[in-house]
Amino acid sequence: MKNFKIALIPGDGIGPEVIAEGVKVLKTIERLNSEISFSFTEFPWGCQYYLENGKMMADDGIEQLKEYDAIYLGAVGYPGVPDTISLRDLLIRIRREFDQYVNCRPVTLLNPSLTPLKDKTEKDIDFLVIRENSEGEYAGAGDWLFKGKPEEVVLQTGVFSRKGTERIIRYAYEEAKKSNRTLTSVSKANALNYSMVFWDEVFEEVGKEYPEVKTYSHLVDAASLYFVVAPERFEVVVTSNLFGDILTDIGAAITGGMGLATGANLNPEKKFPSMFEPVHGSAPDISGQGIANPIAAIWSVSQMMDFFEEEQWGEVILSTIKTILTEKNSITPDLGGTSSTEGLGNRFVELLTLQAAKKQLVVN
Ligand SMILES: NC(=O)c1ccc[n+]([C@@H]2O[C@H](COP(=O)([O-])OP(=O)(O)OC[C@H]3O[C@@H](n4cnc5c(N)ncnc54)[C@H](O)[C@@H]3O)[C@@H](O)[C@H]2O)c1
Repeated sequence: MKNFKIALIPGDGIGPEVIAEGVKVLKTIERLNSEISFSFTEFPWGCQYYLENGKMMADDGIEQLKEYDAIYLGAVGYPGVPDTISLRDLLIRIRREFDQYVNCRPVTLLNPSLTPLKDKTEKDIDFLVIRENSEGEYAGAGDWLFKGKPEEVVLQTGVFSRKGTERIIRYAYEEAKKSNRTLTSVSKANALNYSMVFWDEVFEEVGKEYPEVKTYSHLVDAASLYFVVAPERFEVVVTSNLFGDILTDIGAAITGGMGLATGANLNPEKKFPSMFEPVHGSAPDISGQGIANPIAAIWSVSQMMDFFEEEQWGEVILSTIKTILTEKNSITPDLGGTSSTEGLGNRFVELLTLQAAKKQLVVN
């Protein structure tokens, strides 16, 4: 019997709406397989908590989360609380304190009708972006001098340590080697003459340990173009924190939008909990209406199951997402359907139950 302890941080806006559907999926797995169980603890942290307590999470929040196998997060941020506070004091704090230095964001087209790209199909758009998640441009280093004066100066420093750069690049090589895929590094050495020259050097150095991995290197501007006109070039991509953040929004745009994009924040050594979350934010424009698309949050559950080494469940969740996307009556308005968040989640559970039985994953 395997028990996984999961900390739930539904957060703000549509966060709780989509996390509720992801939890239904986890409870379905538990119902179908008597050898797997989950314990859930919900934490009320987020912007409402901030308005009541003046902080985004409890003072000993990091300490409280340490004992969990995974954190399942909805979204944080809401009008009324500056984004710098909501993002930095909760999301980025957890990523950093738990050394979740790998951010895995799949860019996979699950249904051909979802891409705005002419003539591209599932076989053209299927790659993994591995984003550095602990330092780089988001290290929070810098200064703000002479505030409000004519001589005002702001400095935002990119921090690229040897340890941080080597470990993310090595992780990407390992992933490419393991899955027999090519590896593309995305950087910008022609303009960022310290950090990105260093990045390129480390990519080449580490590559010597992986002669079997075929590699490519692109400047981020060219890579942005190729994401749109030739996504079939990519299999595994490794890039910095900022570039990965921006590129994966292009990835979301070519695969069906924010309602489908997911990302896993991993501490590969499992010294600390890893965190699974949809890429989207709290979507204040649609929150409370029950129409948010929960597929990104459900895909996060698939990534969580892979991380727990229950890959057969990860796969069946993904194939169930593919099935639901072909059912026009079960999708939410962002994808052109009329289903509610809950309606999609309920239909998902029905389909998952059927597909798990077909794949002989049911254990009584
Ligand atoms: N990981 C996070 O917690 C995270 C990520 C991004 C933004 N944010 C925060 O969220 C707040 C809103 O940010 P934003 O509006 O720039 O980005 P957003 O992702 O919340 O929304 C962008 C657009 O996509 C739509 N959308 C997003 N998720 C959807 C879903 N599941 N189903 C249907 N439509 C969906 C929204 O309706 C909106 O039109 C801000 O406070 C921001 O800081 C948090």
